Amino acid sequence: MNILLTGGTGYIASHTAVVLSSLGYKVFLYDNLSNSKRQVVTQIKKITGSAVTFIKGDIRDSDRIVRLLKRKKIEAVIHFAGLKAVGHSVDRPIDYFDNNVAGTVSLVRAMNLANVKTMVFSSSATVYGNPTYLPLDEIHPKLAVNPYGRTKLHIEELLQDVSDADAEWNISCLRYFNPIGAHESGFIGEEPSDRPNNLMPYLVQVALGDLPYLRVFGGDYPTPDGTGIRDYVHVMDIADGHVAALDFLSKNGGWHALNLGTGSGCSVFELVRIFEETNQCQISAKVVERRPGDVAESYACVEKAYTKLGWRAKRTIPDMCYSAWHFRKNRVV
Ligand code: NAD
Ligand code: WQD
Repeated sequence: MNILLTGGTGYIASHTAVVLSSLGYKVFLYDNLSNSKRQVVTQIKKITGSAVTFIKGDIRDSDRIVRLLKRKKIEAVIHFAGLKAVGHSVDRPIDYFDNNVAGTVSLVRAMNLANVKTMVFSSSATVYGNPTYLPLDEIHPKLAVNPYGRTKLHIEELLQDVSDADAEWNISCLRYFNPIGAHESGFIGEEPSDRPNNLMPYLVQVALGDLPYLRVFGGDYPTPDGTGIRDYVHVMDIADGHVAALDFLSKNGGWHALNLGTGSGCSVFELVRIFEETNQCQISAKVVERRPGDVAESYACVEKAYTKLGWRAKRTIPDMCYSAWHFRKNRVV
């Protein structure tokens, strides 16, 4: 089966490409390289031993995508391409809506024209906003609290309308919680180009000595140790979730939203402790003010993904910590 991955050289797409390629899917990576590097393609080949095709391009170039879908006989699209920095989205909402929302309109238009009507979309737990109850299930109110989150919500709604209008469409919106970690080979992983905003890449840079200490955002949350709790999920489990979603869509039409998480929360202090134990290193950490917009606690109800997709996250927090560190250490030697 021929699959197009938009945002194909990015963090989550590259891990998904490895899994798909190993299973015999023919994988085409489409990316404008705004937040990733072409070398990822070589790294994927090192892992899988088989070539994936890379095409440099933007999802807003509808005509190009129509030609690509037809020429490469694409049967399904996994739509990862998007801008994802919450803070930037507050400063640059127009860029975020143009890239993410207008980009998806352009992609869906192209897919319609090429009669390719199966899509798995990278959504986010951010669509829920501040939890009104936990665990977050898929019917929890959608109260996204920043422009990035609202782009994900608008895209989900657009895709639902597209599916309502044309029963031939099959769409899964996968709401990832906090993907971290890397492929076990250490050849691919998360590589933020700027100073990282997210916890794991920041932690790794502190471990490397590139940053002096971890700022723990808030030590007075109503959680057992006072630090924020999140549902960290291994990026390879997330990758497996996409295969399960493609399989599901081959048998089920319509629009579906599904959480991808582990169903368990882990605090900042717990993650730091497990990282230190697993990787035999010391992390300096200082508790500072809460980060604006953060919630105390967020974790997924994962029953729907299990019932519908037969998917559950298998890997542990030590697996996530080990692989994230192994990847970054490999990059500096
Ligand atoms: P990433 O930045 O590593 O990957 C996104 C890729 O999309 C990049 O390679 C970038 O160059 C490309 N891209 C961006 N705009 C494009 C455009 N207009 N045309 C073509 N390519 C474009 O991010 P990621 O962490 O791999 O995230 C993938 C998707 O998952 C994103 O849509 C993100 O919003 C979503 N998501 C990520 C997380 C997370 O914590 N990483 C959580 C929930 C959802
Ligand atoms: C995790 C925990 C922080 C950095 C974000 C996006 C979300 C989704 C995933 C895309 C929190 C604490 C962090 C640091 C810290 N992405 N922290 N020091 O905020 O749950 O989610 O990424 O869809 O939309 O908002 O993830 O990794 O930034 O933070 O103490 O330097 O770590 O306060 O409790 P978050 P994160």
